[in-house]
Amino acid sequence: MRKKIIVGNWKMNKTVDESAKLATELVAAVKGQAFAETVEIGIAPTFLALDRVAAIVKGSPVRLVAQDVHFENQGAFTGKVSVDMLKAIGVTHVILGHSEPRTLFGETDAAVNKKTLKVLSEGLTPIVCVGETRAEREGNVTEKVVGNQVRAAYQGVSAAEAAKSVIAYEPVWAIGTGLTASDDQAQAVHKFIRGLLTELYGSGTAEAVRIQYGGSMKAENASGLLKQGDIDGGLIGGASLKVDSFLGIIKAA
Ligand code: PGA
Repeated sequence: MRKKIIVGNWKMNKTVDESAKLATELVAAVKGQAFAETVEIGIAPTFLALDRVAAIVKGSPVRLVAQDVHFENQGAFTGKVSVDMLKAIGVTHVILGHSEPRTLFGETDAAVNKKTLKVLSEGLTPIVCVGETRAEREGNVTEKVVGNQVRAAYQGVSAAEAAKSVIAYEPVWAIGTGLTASDDQAQAVHKFIRGLLTELYGSGTAEAVRIQYGGSMKAENASGLLKQGDIDGGLIGGASLKVDSFLGIIKAA
């Protein structure tokens, strides 16, 4: 059975002090709870707050997640952060290829691939985001778009490494819009992704990969989505910024 994974993507929200406060509240809320054993929980604060939050989540079931990373270890890459730096402070997972960097900052499939390879080679878990825009869904090319993104991201990734990765299916039209894919719509794409992984790596690997849903997931719609056979968790934006709403999703999982 795949362990469900719920990750809060705080995006460009919260100062360092505010991040520390929210992390402290979350750690207190999950402490000693049985669900914290059965669900993997992570939070992705701003880079600035990672070090502070690392000290807060240490020894708790809450994993430290970065929102992005560069694919080189060090050097003249102004503005970038390396896997080494993240690893040194206790980051375990990295979100890659989110639609915001893809659409707003020109993140390419090739860059997502390099980052995926790098993160896996350093023993961290990539959370590889894929998803179609509204126009692509309406043009009936969702599977083509998502399929191409998955193939590109996993170029050169071995089956053993792929098995350790996480994919987040996030329809772009559902992110931050309040619109959520229906349970069936989401499950259909998750099933398609697992089928593609089977084609690329065989069923053992495909069955091991966890595929999260993201896009306006909240406590109210989480249980329907998380009941679907191929939905193994959630990548949560807005609803992860308050402890109660995030906790509601964790409990649903
Ligand atoms: P949302 O964001 O939950 O605010 O829609 C999800 C995401 O972008 O990861």
